[in-house]
Amino acid sequence: MSKKIKILLGVTGGIAAYKSAEIARLLIKKNYLVKVVMTRTAEDFITPLTFETLTNEKVYPYNAVEKDSPMLHIDLARWADIILIAPTTAEFLSKILHGRADDMLSTICLAYDKKLVLAPSMNKNMWANKATQENYKILKKRDKIYVLISDGECQEGTTWETLLFAAKHKLENLIILIDYNKIQALSKLNDALPLHNLVKKIQSFNINCVDVKNGHNFSSILKSFKLKNKKKLPTAIIFNTIKGKGVKEFENDPVWHARKLSKEELVIAKKRLGF
Ligand SMILES: Cc1cc2nc3c(=O)[nH]c(=O)nc-3n(C[C@H](O)[C@H](O)[C@H](O)COP(=O)(O)O)c2cc1C
Repeated sequence: MSKKIKILLGVTGGIAAYKSAEIARLLIKKNYLVKVVMTRTAEDFITPLTFETLTNEKVYPYNAVEKDSPMLHIDLARWADIILIAPTTAEFLSKILHGRADDMLSTICLAYDKKLVLAPSMNKNMWANKATQENYKILKKRDKIYVLISDGECQEGTTWETLLFAAKHKLENLIILIDYNKIQALSKLNDALPLHNLVKKIQSFNINCVDVKNGHNFSSILKSFKLKNKKKLPTAIIFNTIKGKGVKEFENDPVWHARKLSKEELVIAKKRLGF
């Protein structure tokens, strides 16, 4: 059985904090391990008890201290595979940008070197404010940009032009995720334009390329994100997948590029997927 993914859910003091309870509930339902860290202001919007009940774990407040874990912020940063901050206030966005660490959640973020996912949420004028926009722009540049494309798009010339551009400008924070299910819009890839050895093709464009043999396996997916980018090049990760995976009646059929499930087919899909 693959290892459970550990998500540290950071909750900051915005009006959307009430939605974090639903996020916690859904993550638990999906079998993730979830720990919640709240800012002081977040507790004005929602109580720790809500998260404690949903996650069955204790919730860490802004000033959390533990006798037997004096380096709690380091321990929690190491524990998390992913940190998701939802909602992220304008204030917290600016804190992360400047590397401030004046409470538990911001200190964990500073000690953390993996995937940080932010869900900014605020009034539209606060979002449009130059200060917030400039903060956001800098954070985006500092961070990685993920682009999801299909193998059908790898049959298009503009995709290869873009790869040339990315390599020329050494866009090292660009990660291209390729859903390689060998099916394009209307047919099997090989019946239209075969890509043959896609890894070699991409590498020949001076782009790092990782081949994930089983694109449905979460541990393999997570491992592929840990590539050490020594040459500071853009990276492409190929996920070998099966269209319609898990519903054997529908697997590998190009028809599902555009067709909707009928009521009867929905029943079959739900049954196969265990809903
Ligand atoms: C009623 C109320 C609602 C607020 N809603 C938001 C919000 O949705 N987004 C936001 O960025 N800030 C909002 N704020 C401002 C933050 O609460 C404030 O900046 C706070 O210092 C954020 O602290 P934190 O990021 O440490 O949680 C709101 C303030 C109040 C009083």
